[in-house]
Amino acid sequence: MVDVILGLQWGDEGKGKIVDYFAPSYDVIARFQGGPNAGHTLYLEGKKIVLHQIPSGIFHERCSNLIGNGVVLDPVTLKKECDTVASFGIDVKKNLFISKRAHLILPTHRALDKASETSKGSDKIGSTLKGISPAYMDKTGRNGLRVGDLLDKSFTTSYIRLRLKHQRLLDNFNFQEDISAWEEDFFESLEFLKQLNIVDGEYFINDKITQGKKVLAEGAQGSMLDIDFGTFPFVTSSNTTTSGVCSGLGVAPQKIRDVMGVTKAYCTRVGGGPFPTELHDATGEELRAIGKEFGATTGRPRRCGWIDLIALKYAAMINGVTKVIMTKADVLDAFKELNVCTGYRIDNQVYESIPFQMTRLHIDPQFHALAGWNTPTGAVRAYSELPQTMLDYIGFINRFIGVNISHISNGPEREQIIPVS
Ligand code: GDP
Ligand code: IMO
Ligand code: MG
Repeated sequence: MVDVILGLQWGDEGKGKIVDYFAPSYDVIARFQGGPNAGHTLYLEGKKIVLHQIPSGIFHERCSNLIGNGVVLDPVTLKKECDTVASFGIDVKKNLFISKRAHLILPTHRALDKASETSKGSDKIGSTLKGISPAYMDKTGRNGLRVGDLLDKSFTTSYIRLRLKHQRLLDNFNFQEDISAWEEDFFESLEFLKQLNIVDGEYFINDKITQGKKVLAEGAQGSMLDIDFGTFPFVTSSNTTTSGVCSGLGVAPQKIRDVMGVTKAYCTRVGGGPFPTELHDATGEELRAIGKEFGATTGRPRRCGWIDLIALKYAAMINGVTKVIMTKADVLDAFKELNVCTGYRIDNQVYESIPFQMTRLHIDPQFHALAGWNTPTGAVRAYSELPQTMLDYIGFINRFIGVNISHISNGPEREQIIPVS
């Protein structure tokens, strides 16, 4: 059986911490999509670690960690991350596995990402510039190079051919930067990558399932950044939702059991695109300051706003969420009153659904006000000690979205999580 942890908003919900928390109950932790655009933060021995490519179960020695076929892999980022992980005494050669079918991010993909974003001017997506979209374009365009290709002697020829194609595109963008240093790093890190466990990921994972092992699939980004169901075109280039687990790992839908959706107690978004509940005032600034809302991958300030129950209910529907995990509840400690969005007013009509496109519409969020708990909660360890006002906030969300919150995270550390009983 396979359980899933994925984001229900626009990413950065705290998935890394939650995966690390649940990892001891699983044998395999598997990333199924995305790439180094992800930044999953966890704390180990009081030290902050941000993982971009490696699954967040890597610090649990009894877990095998798989980078699935649905991931796009930048070997340079991977090598750096493996060095960090090794400095904590973890042997990646023992518990990290990489699918042969995962596509490689080439230096020219990063250059193309940058050139494409620059050409869009003020309409830019706000990409992390990690080469995600060009790499997935080469996958669906049937040009990409895969990890398994590294093991074939024709790899260099294929690389040169694809690089030439990319160069023509870069010339069209009038991209002038010298990327030879990137290429040097790339080839050096490929040698490192070849020494890791490169496997047939779909057999690896299905064999584990047959042996009765427990698998946890770790999502990257969030449901509202999904290529099909997110706020297109301000999305990433993969299926961040549950369907991505099947295609990104090679597991059948009947194997999926729990889908644990992670949401912040409020809402953030980094990069461009619609965000109906965004706050452009002092409250938004306060959320950013208290929540330390700066991107784990790019350092950019995250846009902040109240929780959006229209988007959350939609994400619960698309993913088949069975449990909701609410993070960063402690960030709301400072507020006397909280707002939750329960409708979108568009042209004098109130909707409870996500419109086909949100970019060209003026969406006026309809807020329902709830009392804040306005008391420090970061040190609370038991459900019975949580303030009633927080339980009322949770109860309102449960009823609105139709799925219950099962855990409340009240701080970044491993022990700051409370099961709802
Ligand atoms: P991810 O991409 O979903 O893994 O999330 P990020 O790591 O990008 O961002 C989440 C941030 O919130 C990180 O800095 C975490 O350390 C932090 N965090 C996670 N859970 C909590 C929580 O319950 N309270 C607080 N205050 N911080 C949290
Ligand atoms: P985690 O896994 C938040 C956003 C970017 C941009 C858009 C497209 O840490 O939650 P891309 O580089 O994918 O082409 O960027 O998606 N984005 C994220 N936002 N968290 C992430 O990952 C993100 N990965 C991509 O900011 O708006
Ligand atoms: Mg993140």
